[in-house]
Amino acid sequence: MPYCPPLLFPPMNDMTQQHWYQNAVFYSLDVETFYDSNGDGIGDFPGLLQKLDYLAGLGINCIWLLPFYPSPNRDNGYDVMDYYSVDPSLGTLGDFTIFMEKANLLGIRVLIDLVVNHTSILHPWFRDARKHKDSPYRDYYIWSDEPKSFQRKNLMLKGEEDTMWSYDDAACQYYLHRFYKEQPDLNLGNPAVREEILKIMGFWLKLGVSGLRVDAAEIMIEDYGQDDVDPKELYSFFNDMRSYALSKKRDAILLAEVNGDPKKMSAFLDDGNRVQMIFNFYLNQHIFLSLVKGNANILAEAMNALPALQADNQFLNFLRHHDELNLKLLQDQDMNAVLDALAPEENMRIFGYGIRRRLATMFQGHIGMQKLAYSLLFSMPGVPMLRYGDEIGMGDDLSLNGRTSVRTPMQWSKQRNGGFSDADEKDLVHPVIRENSFGYETINVMQAQHDDSSLLSWVEKLVTTRKQVPEIGIGKLEVLLSKNKPLLIHAYASKNEKIYFIHNLSDQHINCNLIESGIEKGEVFDVFSDREFNNDTEQEMCINSYGYRWFRVEKNNA
Ligand code: NOJ
Ligand code: CA
Repeated sequence: MPYCPPLLFPPMNDMTQQHWYQNAVFYSLDVETFYDSNGDGIGDFPGLLQKLDYLAGLGINCIWLLPFYPSPNRDNGYDVMDYYSVDPSLGTLGDFTIFMEKANLLGIRVLIDLVVNHTSILHPWFRDARKHKDSPYRDYYIWSDEPKSFQRKNLMLKGEEDTMWSYDDAACQYYLHRFYKEQPDLNLGNPAVREEILKIMGFWLKLGVSGLRVDAAEIMIEDYGQDDVDPKELYSFFNDMRSYALSKKRDAILLAEVNGDPKKMSAFLDDGNRVQMIFNFYLNQHIFLSLVKGNANILAEAMNALPALQADNQFLNFLRHHDELNLKLLQDQDMNAVLDALAPEENMRIFGYGIRRRLATMFQGHIGMQKLAYSLLFSMPGVPMLRYGDEIGMGDDLSLNGRTSVRTPMQWSKQRNGGFSDADEKDLVHPVIRENSFGYETINVMQAQHDDSSLLSWVEKLVTTRKQVPEIGIGKLEVLLSKNKPLLIHAYASKNEKIYFIHNLSDQHINCNLIESGIEKGEVFDVFSDREFNNDTEQEMCINSYGYRWFRVEKNNA
């Protein structure tokens, strides 16, 4: 038998099919704030359809759609009234399928939110459950005659909600809600509820989505208020969800929202038996901490602490998304350091542990810092996610309540309402940012597309480059020890070469010696950097302030 070398990467056809998410760039958006096609002030599916070519041009592979189901919108759609439909303000199920068809044609996959830790208070199940104790839906929720107190009193939305139990006059009992009182928690210990969840998953997978982002996954496995439920059983439901999803679509994935440490992340991955992907909140918070402290060792340690992944697992890395920048996993002192640096005013903070600002404003519009942060993000073990508007450096509106500050409409052009909608300003779903240097007259897609030196042009290049470096998702990570605190040096190995990344987290130029840093000798090929490196073969190189360099080193065979 001829010798057959082991494959480091799955065969290409597998990468694009079953393992498509191992080397993909994700993009998160909310239909209602992306593009309004009919001038009612609310973004919609036909609008998103029109903008799909823009997203294809950006080079992203997968859109994560925030909830678009019928909802009273107490929690931006995370309070679902009907799991099988589209909110009429966003379009129809027909519009959704047309959108899916075009996304498919463009090679863009779609991930949707599975919000089943809770429903809306207006969901027919809850309406019926309230009415009488023997309603078939009564046990779909968690009831108690008294508000039970818990040892682990873990309030999710401190300052906006101060209890987990609310009294329902019709039911004459308290019901549990981990989020807003308009979001009663489902009783996942009830097999009938679990059946319903699988049915919802099957429905959307059959409509062509590539996977589901499991909202509040870490809350779903908690047994608050359910004395008779075995938490192990709640975890094992994730194994069932996985099997069910794969039985409906062989390349489907589950992406879990788990704001947890590596141990918690491991539990959700379960050696490749539970979710395929996990949001990397752990790395997210350590990226910000190391940026704030100008200390790459913090990030290096966090990268090394990440759980080992099985062949079909992957991390989804991000800087910002539609919620607060959550800092819960950091020690108090570290959390305060990040808050002080990035959210110096009280109005920029939320829930006691979060920041309600976009990346660009946290960095005071400093393009160099934004580029450094994205270069870091795209080089982290896993795959990256962008949030709509980040690619043009959109800001936030702190005059809006809570997390709405970071949910303003996409800024397409300098036309009225930033080109988002023709509606009267007062009818817009949220105001478009028009004040200061982040206003739509300055920051918008059209302007950025006409400027080769814009952040958008740079992000396009970053996305293209990232996709050509699949090692980042699946190669063996090596974090090198750097004697310069602000320099992060890491690499991924493949058979004949290594790809190295050097990031300077400080505002000072720093010299870096290739050999002293442990970078292997060989022929150097530059991949992506903030400046030209002419002396590739020289041992000493200068990394600019907030500079970055991605380069391959081909091993000398001599
Ligand atoms: C996480 C979502 O990202 C957040 O926006 C929402 O408020 C909670 N889950 C509750 O669904
Ligand atoms: Ca509309």
